[in-house]
Amino acid sequence: MSTVKRVKTVLNSGQPDEEVLVRGWVRTRRDSKHGFSFVELNDGSCMSNLQVVIDAEVPNYAETIKSVSTGCSISVVGTLKESPGKGQRIECHAKTLDVVGLADPETFPLQKKRHSFEFLREIAHLRPRTNSFGAIARVRNAVSATIHEFFQERGFLYINTPIITTSDCEGAGEMFHVTTLDLAKLAQVQTQIDYSQDFFGKQASLTVSGQLEAEIFATSIGDCYTFGPTFRAENSNTTRHLAEFWMVEPEMPFYDLADNMTLAEEFIRTICREVLSRCPEDMEFFNQRIDNTVLATLDNIAENEFIRLPYTEAVELLAKSDKKFEFPVEWGHDLQSEHERYLTEEHFKQPVILFDYPRTIKPFYMRCNDDGKTVRAMDVLVPRVGEIIGGSQREERLDVLTERITECGMSPDDYWWYLDLRRYGTVPHAGFGLGLERVIQLVTGMTNIRDCIPFPRTPKNAEF
Ligand code: 4AD
Ligand code: MG
Repeated sequence: MSTVKRVKTVLNSGQPDEEVLVRGWVRTRRDSKHGFSFVELNDGSCMSNLQVVIDAEVPNYAETIKSVSTGCSISVVGTLKESPGKGQRIECHAKTLDVVGLADPETFPLQKKRHSFEFLREIAHLRPRTNSFGAIARVRNAVSATIHEFFQERGFLYINTPIITTSDCEGAGEMFHVTTLDLAKLAQVQTQIDYSQDFFGKQASLTVSGQLEAEIFATSIGDCYTFGPTFRAENSNTTRHLAEFWMVEPEMPFYDLADNMTLAEEFIRTICREVLSRCPEDMEFFNQRIDNTVLATLDNIAENEFIRLPYTEAVELLAKSDKKFEFPVEWGHDLQSEHERYLTEEHFKQPVILFDYPRTIKPFYMRCNDDGKTVRAMDVLVPRVGEIIGGSQREERLDVLTERITECGMSPDDYWWYLDLRRYGTVPHAGFGLGLERVIQLVTGMTNIRDCIPFPRTPKNAEF
């Protein structure tokens, strides 16, 4: 018996007369009047199906073929032959066919027609069996591998930061609390919850970012990165926000903001270049079926330098433009997605790194500029998606940081260990966070971030 071959291997390197064992799920079956059938077999290894020809040579052909329907799983031993048909180099002529698992054609939800992404979201357990979601899964895998390789090649250490935390990195208070207390019961007897009685002895949450812990390692073992799930309880029902998303956060000692920008830019350019070279078939599909500008956009990003522009100049530029925005542009406010998209899609037509944001709209850890009004923040904006990276140079001065924590309404005592990093051998340092699902949006052209993660968590939605 031959060993199992993935469809991708068969299609790429299978030779005529070779005997193969293939397994997977049936996409379609067509019966010819001349006593044989064509089955399109997909096993997720690539976009293309393997055409399997089944005829009377297969024991019990007439009976078996009846149960072969879209969605069922089969195992086939067969011989490869050059395909006379268009669209494939090679096909498989079955010698034996086992139906491993049936799929009732009356109820199987994925039929040949195109389904809306909204509908597919309701069947997230079956959507990876479609062309689009198979391709997204492969691209997501390629991007994750590229992320690790990018940092590993540069000598960055991969560190794992905690998911349960007692600090609020972004200081926005948008955290999911973690407790073993019976809050419903407690609410009947006390108005204030006593978290000293809780599992961790104080109020704990799911992390919004691994940055603060990454800084501990950056200021001890050097360049490092953390890559994991992060959680935000912001009630934003947009096409760019998830309650649970994956973020990669590098942190580098002795980097200033300009070094940080250079690394971020190289990072995004590398991801675009690698996804084009690792997933050509899937990328062709996205360009044809999802958004016919993705290939051009990725090429453009991979080849050209990003624009670097202070926030203040961006606000002036937006205020002077003829474009009618829904939200007015005003210094001191966060830019809206429409402003970010105008800059990248219409004005510059390429990624833009904005920096030196007003201190009032950015977290406590960013380094204060001498103007007293801005901090060394940077956001990398890309076409269609807007902000894809947020980062900064960190405040390394103990006195300034302590003051900033207080100014942000937090208690320096709660951040004693973070302040210790400035008390003992402080160094200038910087880092950034890249949202993985926003990258997937960028490279695939998918418009809704809920389709860029296998099982999206959003307000009122945590099925699967
Ligand atoms: O700009 P953010 O909030 O930055 C941080 O969390 C820093 N601690 C990062 C750092 O400097 N180490 O988030 C970084 C990125 C955003 O640019 C965006 O790509 C993504 O994370 N992101 C989200 N992605 C999906 N859903 C959400 N709700 C997101 N919030 C942020
Ligand atoms: Mg941000």
